[in-house]
Amino acid sequence: MGRLEGQVALVTGGASGLGHAIVERFVAEGARVGVLDRSAERLAGLAAAFGGAVCGTVGDVRALADNRRAVEDVVDRFGRLDCLVGNAGVWDFGTPLVDLDDDKVDAGFSELFDINVKGYLLAAKAALKPLVESRGSMIFTVSNAGFYPAGGGPLYTASKHAVVGLIRQLAFELAPHVRVNGVAPGGIATDLRGAAGLGLAETSIASVREGLEHFGREVTPIGRLPTPAEYTGAYVFFASRGDTVPTTGAVLNHDGGVGARGFASAAGGHDLIQKLGLTR
Ligand SMILES: NC(=O)c1ccc[n+]([C@@H]2O[C@H](COP(=O)([O-])OP(=O)(O)OC[C@H]3O[C@@H](n4cnc5c(N)ncnc54)[C@H](O)[C@@H]3O)[C@@H](O)[C@H]2O)c1
Repeated sequence: MGRLEGQVALVTGGASGLGHAIVERFVAEGARVGVLDRSAERLAGLAAAFGGAVCGTVGDVRALADNRRAVEDVVDRFGRLDCLVGNAGVWDFGTPLVDLDDDKVDAGFSELFDINVKGYLLAAKAALKPLVESRGSMIFTVSNAGFYPAGGGPLYTASKHAVVGLIRQLAFELAPHVRVNGVAPGGIATDLRGAAGLGLAETSIASVREGLEHFGREVTPIGRLPTPAEYTGAYVFFASRGDTVPTTGAVLNHDGGVGARGFASAAGGHDLIQKLGLTR
């Protein structure tokens, strides 16, 4: 029996990358899942892949009405809502302050915060009533950039730090009815896009694949980029009721040890295999 048997979830940005992997894992664990995403084409692909277990809503997470429609769709279709996963996001491609063009900084800031922060707030507002009814939970995707610099520029890093504040505030406000937690992944090879306001809407993180792989190999202590699927267990943990009664307001650093390296080289255990006389 799956760990989410009988549960119903809503995942924003679930048509691609990490969100898609969460949808796949939740379905495998027995859940039925609604997805709010702005890509109609990818949502059609989801419906084809998962059939009756998934329902899609085309919309923009920046609009409260779209979030409300997605909640209505999933509750109409599956009868309840147990878990909201706020996940849709955009990146700033690490653009530093000095390189933020004067004529783009306003639009770039608004877009990063509107999608990455306000999008989660509006989804939480839309999903509140059915989640209180089910004594459910919210899970928000953060990032290593929610804790440390250099995973983005000032716009992305500030937006992900703001998500941590949102999680803590909502965990406090919504207790004891709804648990609110976060997962902070490290680098993932997805199709993560930049903000249109920065002229980066058509630019994918895949275009800096070499840099991303370097981040996995040389910066991340576990020595490689985890796959999207490898990140999903944390979402199942927070969504499952049995093991998480005491857990609210928590954010899991799920980043391959990025925060544990400090100023040292990536993996403290480089020579362990040799010192222990083991062969790989
Ligand atoms: N890729 C990484 O290295 C990485 C690392 C840490 C955290 N994250 C976070 O993971 C989350 C998922 O990103 P991903 O890497 O899977 O990217 P992705 O682009 O593959 O998936 C994001 C999805 O969100 C949707 N989306 C974007 N803006 C939207 C909007 N305004 N309204 C509705 N849908 C919208 C996109 O259509 C897409 O389907 C984001 O919050 C991102 O910040 C990504």
